[in-house]
Amino acid sequence: MVEAVSDQDQIINKMNTLLSMSPQCQDWDTKSDKTNTSNEKSTYSIIKVDSEISEKELAHQKIGEIVATENFVNSSMDIEPFFIANMNSVKSQYHKWMRCLPRFTPFYAVKCNNNEVVLRTLISLGTSFDCASMEEIKTILNFGIPPRKIIYANPCKSPVHLKYAASVGVSKMTFDNADELLKIKQYYPAAELVIRVHVDDSKSICQFGVKFGVRLGQTKPLLEMASKLGLKVIGVSFHVGSGCTDPSAYNDALKRAREVFEEGRQMGYEFSLLDIGGGFPGLSVAQNGVKIQFEDIAEVINKAMDEHFAEIKDLQLIAEPGRFFASTAFTLVTNITSRRTIETEEGPTFMYYINDGVYGSFNCLIFDHADLPQPRFLIKNLQDFVSHTQAEDCNDGYLSSVWGPTCDSMDCLTKAIKLPQLAVGDWLIFDNMGAYTLVAASRFNGMNNPKVLYLDSDTEIPCLKPTYITPYEPDQKASLIKEDFVLS
Ligand SMILES: Cc1ncc(COP(=O)(O)O)c(C=O)c1O
Repeated sequence: MVEAVSDQDQIINKMNTLLSMSPQCQDWDTKSDKTNTSNEKSTYSIIKVDSEISEKELAHQKIGEIVATENFVNSSMDIEPFFIANMNSVKSQYHKWMRCLPRFTPFYAVKCNNNEVVLRTLISLGTSFDCASMEEIKTILNFGIPPRKIIYANPCKSPVHLKYAASVGVSKMTFDNADELLKIKQYYPAAELVIRVHVDDSKSICQFGVKFGVRLGQTKPLLEMASKLGLKVIGVSFHVGSGCTDPSAYNDALKRAREVFEEGRQMGYEFSLLDIGGGFPGLSVAQNGVKIQFEDIAEVINKAMDEHFAEIKDLQLIAEPGRFFASTAFTLVTNITSRRTIETEEGPTFMYYINDGVYGSFNCLIFDHADLPQPRFLIKNLQDFVSHTQAEDCNDGYLSSVWGPTCDSMDCLTKAIKLPQLAVGDWLIFDNMGAYTLVAASRFNGMNNPKVLYLDSDTEIPCLKPTYITPYEPDQKASLIKEDFVLS
């Protein structure tokens, strides 16, 4: 049944009354989303949680609790989208990495999600970093990370960025063409170069081979040129493409890399570094109905290493995982701001307009070739937040489409999804939104990007110093411990 207009009016009126009350949740308004490269101190709201609860349970339980607090309803935050970023997820991914691929040091790909708390959490775990630009290098150096823990893994660098890398001693960098070698010779002749080879990326969701990588048969002449220029090549890298769905791609790539090690040896180089790039899924990816786990990929890599690289001693092994760390950590909570009801002969269908879209966090639907995560929904009647169900369970719901907030018709998340009847003020919640989302979001049409609320079982992240317990009380209802931190 379509809700009577008068009911909706009533709801909107009630919401207007609530929104006109003065917001109490002041500390939510943090500078959290931008990486802080200035000396300015940033404050973050971190909610301390019990590590016993699984990440999903916890994130969803907390969303329910947060929105149920009077504080939340009275604040202006209920008309803004927000992320819940669970640092426990980042940490558990790190431990999984160390269990499955202990030989490879992760150099986290900053481009995937440059959120400052994520970066600081990774720093506290001891990871190194893959930077794509001067700005990313600056960000990481400003945390006090030594240049040797950075790889400048952009094979085609601007001269200005390259000069900056030289000035700060970030010497490890990739290259894949002759012009780049000439540029490096001019601006940073002491750089430690890693040749990026072209590998089969046909089984990956985002393919980079069309833009980067030295093709088979061209590696030898390029190494020869590097040698003639007196440049120091220290190793080989590849990227199987982001969102790899076939573990065997890593075996083929490692075999290929091993051949280039041999070519290097013939050229007089003793390579000491192997960089297996990114591509590792943050959650299992489906391939022909079969789910591929990170563990499957790790097994293939470990076997291939034993087969192809066993006799090479003192080799530094690194990787550049991005989405592996970031995907599952972020849950996006959006609010339905408008609804259009369309009467058809089969009954009503609904168009929902939410407050984040493809020009914001959902840019991943275009640039990252992502599928829209099945949303969960939370129905609000302003007294109660009633249900918290998986939309997948609603096959008998109404045919609906979901749209972003801008005036562009391209700003569409899905044209066909079954949802229960929802209303303005209800919530749609999207899991696994941490990779290639907020980092690439624009503010097209003047829309704000979502703020971030952090969850962590541990307030002892070394770089985060607790300064004071937030004085207001409303969150007690939700049994949360809310603290502010000043980043040193
Ligand atoms: C050079 C390089 N390294 C690492 C990554 C991270 O890839 P992923 O997020 O698939 O791990 C990317 C992604 O674009 C990349 O271009």
